[in-house]
Amino acid sequence: MQDGAQVLHLRNGGTSLVLDLSAAGMPAFVHWGADLGDLSDSELAGLVSASLVQRVSGGLDHPARLSILPSEAYGWQGSPGLVGSRAGRDFSPAFVTTAVETDAASVVVSGLDPAAGLELNAELSLDGSGTLLQRLRVRNAGEDDYELERLSATLPLPSSAREILDTSGRHLRERMPQRHPFVMGSHVRESRKGRPGADSTLFLTVGTPGFGFERGLVHGAHLAWSGNHRMLVERQVTGAAILQGGELLAPGEVRLKPGESYLSPPLIASWGDGLNAFTARLHAHVRARPSHPRSPRPVTLNTWEAVYFAHDLDGLRDLASVGARVGVERFVLDDGWFRGRRDDRAGLGDWFVDEAIWPHGLDPLIEHVHGLDMQFGLWVEPEMVNDDSDLARAHPEWVLQTGDRMPIEGRQQQVLDLSHAGAYAYVRERMLALLADHSIDYLKWDHNRDLIDAGSTITGRAAVHDNVEALYRLLDDLKAAHPGLEIESCASGGARVDLGILAHTDRIWTSDCIDPLERLPIQKYTGVVVPYELMGAHVGGTVSHSTGRTSTLPLRSATALFGHFGIESDLRTFSEPELDALAAWVGYHQRHRAMFHTGTAVHAELDDDTGDLRGVVAEDLSRAVFVFTQVRSSDTYPPAPLRFPGLDDDIVYRVGIPVEPASDPIAGQSALEWAQSGVELSGRVLRTVGVAAPVLFPQHCIVIEMAAID
Ligand code: DGJ
Repeated sequence: MQDGAQVLHLRNGGTSLVLDLSAAGMPAFVHWGADLGDLSDSELAGLVSASLVQRVSGGLDHPARLSILPSEAYGWQGSPGLVGSRAGRDFSPAFVTTAVETDAASVVVSGLDPAAGLELNAELSLDGSGTLLQRLRVRNAGEDDYELERLSATLPLPSSAREILDTSGRHLRERMPQRHPFVMGSHVRESRKGRPGADSTLFLTVGTPGFGFERGLVHGAHLAWSGNHRMLVERQVTGAAILQGGELLAPGEVRLKPGESYLSPPLIASWGDGLNAFTARLHAHVRARPSHPRSPRPVTLNTWEAVYFAHDLDGLRDLASVGARVGVERFVLDDGWFRGRRDDRAGLGDWFVDEAIWPHGLDPLIEHVHGLDMQFGLWVEPEMVNDDSDLARAHPEWVLQTGDRMPIEGRQQQVLDLSHAGAYAYVRERMLALLADHSIDYLKWDHNRDLIDAGSTITGRAAVHDNVEALYRLLDDLKAAHPGLEIESCASGGARVDLGILAHTDRIWTSDCIDPLERLPIQKYTGVVVPYELMGAHVGGTVSHSTGRTSTLPLRSATALFGHFGIESDLRTFSEPELDALAAWVGYHQRHRAMFHTGTAVHAELDDDTGDLRGVVAEDLSRAVFVFTQVRSSDTYPPAPLRFPGLDDDIVYRVGIPVEPASDPIAGQSALEWAQSGVELSGRVLRTVGVAAPVLFPQHCIVIEMAAID
């Protein structure tokens, strides 16, 4: 940190953040992005001076500057940082800075609006990866209640930012990219589903037109929160362009009594030349968390697509045994084990092993699984309740609701109000009892419906915020009571994917769709924020249960290869050669997973968009594994060359295709010289010239390895 008079320059991990502390009100942003180097006090003063725009006709006498809390009181006419009032009064905050505390790469700014009786704290920090984290806290220092409508973190965008990329999607096709020009006005992405939802944006990025994974200046952010949220980018005629993110609150949801405060969820922001660089910062940020899983991610066998609700001890024992034969390390018993749960219409809430299906309890299965040297995982959906359950019959007041009605059902189920002490205590007790009574290493924590009319029967007010906080507390309680317990965040697959939930869990279930072709974009764009080791990726059966599409074992396996690898199919129906082939993929993943789960994830911008080339490069750049998939038929024959990003320009790599596991066959392989005999090329040549693409059938793929030669 350089503190040049009234200018603060935070630097870390290749990022600079410059704030003008002398701006009217709260500190103003001067720069966020590329490291500006070691600037003297006078250079910093010059930087501020150079950034001040002139007054224009028709404008205010003092052109507004973008502060860390943009406010109308200081002339800001765009989206404000804080919205709220005391029954209509104190609607326009005007904070002045009262204190600034800094260390090398972070700052906490305190502000006060004496007239409105509000205090503000803004914390901005740059970590070693150059990722910027921002959180705001507002405190009611007045004498009556303050109703908070919005507290959003704001960041400046450069004038080069002209194209927006964010994600939308749906169940089975989450996090699909969408692009559009960044024109005047606001592009707002809201989630009102009580969980982020399959269609929410995982990130909001803006960059130079046409920016991609390999190039183009891009800035953007992710909101680490598992409830309703509002992300926005906005461009004004003044030229100001901002990115904002915060929780979306229902009317009356947060009412601060005198002395109470509200803390916004972390806005986690990154930038880079290309999305690969943007992502590398975010992944480094995520991996630096003390709670980040560092042990090898166990290869998982999940029973859902293998048996669905058809639970039967002998059959499941057999399934586990075949899993052991191919190298599975964790066996997860999915939905269907608890009272009354013969299908998805009943039972949720009654978290007792169903004696009708499991007359001897779960222990015989658990012992068998542990005997195979595998971990045992169990599916739960603790926030939910079916109408047809003892719990719903006993405690209808524990269901989130409002007015004189119950919410519309989703998957025939309702949502419990974990902010209700009784509901929280019940669910906590049930989960702790399950964990105490059984040797469970892992919980798959599902959440299969959006929230509707999510009000508390105690307060009558909206309770999404309180439920997200209660959920985080519950997950922490269970982990504290059972150190080593891992938890997966599943929500109809990928409807609750965010770094908020991942601060309390160990992986996400990326999508219910495990068709590899669908998974390619799902994983690509989920991976912009979530590193591979936190992303569940399973090999399904030959015919996908969610698309009906048929795919080869190499395609299914190679698509799951980099992630937290698993299998979700009835292995008892696989032939011996199929099991051998799958075992080879499991073995390959196990040999390389330490690199996949610490290395740099990269995506190539291919000249031929009928293919997909992605890879992981080891942290020390000494090796890499890429997967090339011919998604559909190419117009040229063969397709355009493959160029590989992320390698060290000055290292010479041996490039080849591993013999085991067997990739899909290359048509006329004898003619593709490098694939047959290998080739040695520098990272620079591989990045700029590349190698001739193989001719593959559509929907087929190959693995390509690079290893530095001594
Ligand atoms: C949705 C999940 O995403 C599936 O993997 C499975 O666990 C089902 N729920 C079970 O009901």
